[in-house]
Amino acid sequence: MMGFDSVIKGGKVVTPDGVQQVDVGIKGETIAAIGAGLETSGAKVIDAAGHFVLPGVLDVHVHLALPFCGTTSSDDYYTGTRAGARGGVTTLIDFAIPYAGDSLNDAADNWHRKAEGKALIDYTFHICITRWDEHKDQIEGMVERGFSTFKEFMIYESEGWQSDDRALFGTLEKMKKLGTMLLVHAESSRVLDELIARHHTPELMAKYGAQLHAMSRPNFIEAEAIQRAAKWSEVTGGNLYIVHMSTAEGADIVREAQSRGVPIIAETCAQYLVLDDSLFAGPDGHLYACCPQIKKPRDIERLWEGMITGEVSVVSTDTCTFTREQKAMWEGDFTKIPMGMPGLETLLPVVYTTGVRAGRITIEQMCEKLSTNPARIMGLAPRKGAIQVGADADFAIIHPTHEIVVDHTTMETNADWSPYTGMSLAGFSRTTISRGDVIVDDYKVVGKAGRGQWLPRKTAGLTESEREAL
Ligand code: URP
Ligand code: ZN
Ligand code: ZN
Repeated sequence: MMGFDSVIKGGKVVTPDGVQQVDVGIKGETIAAIGAGLETSGAKVIDAAGHFVLPGVLDVHVHLALPFCGTTSSDDYYTGTRAGARGGVTTLIDFAIPYAGDSLNDAADNWHRKAEGKALIDYTFHICITRWDEHKDQIEGMVERGFSTFKEFMIYESEGWQSDDRALFGTLEKMKKLGTMLLVHAESSRVLDELIARHHTPELMAKYGAQLHAMSRPNFIEAEAIQRAAKWSEVTGGNLYIVHMSTAEGADIVREAQSRGVPIIAETCAQYLVLDDSLFAGPDGHLYACCPQIKKPRDIERLWEGMITGEVSVVSTDTCTFTREQKAMWEGDFTKIPMGMPGLETLLPVVYTTGVRAGRITIEQMCEKLSTNPARIMGLAPRKGAIQVGADADFAIIHPTHEIVVDHTTMETNADWSPYTGMSLAGFSRTTISRGDVIVDDYKVVGKAGRGQWLPRKTAGLTESEREAL
């Protein structure tokens, strides 16, 4: 008879085979057994009666302590991973961005230093390629080092991050050869620059304030860029992952490309499923500015539809937290707003409440978008992403109906506001378990900073049959 270190007892467990009323036995850091009536002698019993036991959430789009827009995002690896844990996130993927003169190795080293001693949950990095001619011959070395996802931005020239079509095309060729994947921030830079310039007048800024952020970025800015990147994916055969897709048009393009066998996958973020651009008209409108910006109700509806029909494979957050003081740097000029919002702590509660409880998706579909798909797509399965024997013992245990009103004063995130303030959300994690350790107990963080581990990977992306099954 196998003795377990811990047994999660009596919960409704969301496994790849559906929701089952079973126990989960944990030995060391892994799941050792799943079944009814597991032996508990000598084991710590974690009571999950009346709760859902979910696979730990993977937030695969996070920026912690990122120097950006003239400041540094205010959630670092200490506050950001505590916030994640409270929201049931047990793995995050950040973006290692090389600064002037940095190699890809330098960027990874720099991001490792940010995480060391601070991370409560497991993590890895997407490696950002910002200067193609310098970085192109460093990609293979990064794969050998255990990184299998790369990132290019089609905007952000002033940050020194922007990639052109030559870089996208060349990187996708390499992704095909190496079995790795390119993530792309798809917005069309030249036309966007022109539209920003047209809106950037004292008169318009006095009249429209933060609404100009949305007015200068019509949906075609994202759509054209997704269309172009999809073409480079089609002709090279390189795996392409569109980050933070926010538009109905984007979803239509992804659907059409997927139907032709293009190896393209898309993620959206919680904010694009819930918030719309009418918020920019309010007195705190500038707080909600992120790139791409939150869109219209019809985009929200199309993205939810894409969760069912397959164009949206992953929901993440694009966490890039700025405090009110940092956001105030805009001083009425929409081009100076630090772009980004907090999100790690509210990802699961927002998607559970507005998706599962609202009847838009099932709890199994939610776990696919928050855990199983991100793990498979990012090369972290079978270790992460599903409750199955042999996987890391990562769980979020949530009560189906217990609601908490979002209020930054009770949260772990280093933000003095939340995009979801005042919303009453179920789905905060009562108990979060990371590799067998209870790190959140009774909704409070109890795990120690620095226990989180870096996760090496070899490949990323899905095969054609896996993509068809999405
Ligand atoms: O507004 C955002 N999204 N900030 C982070 C940078 C990015 O584009 O993901
Ligand atoms: Zn982006
Ligand atoms: Zn981002």
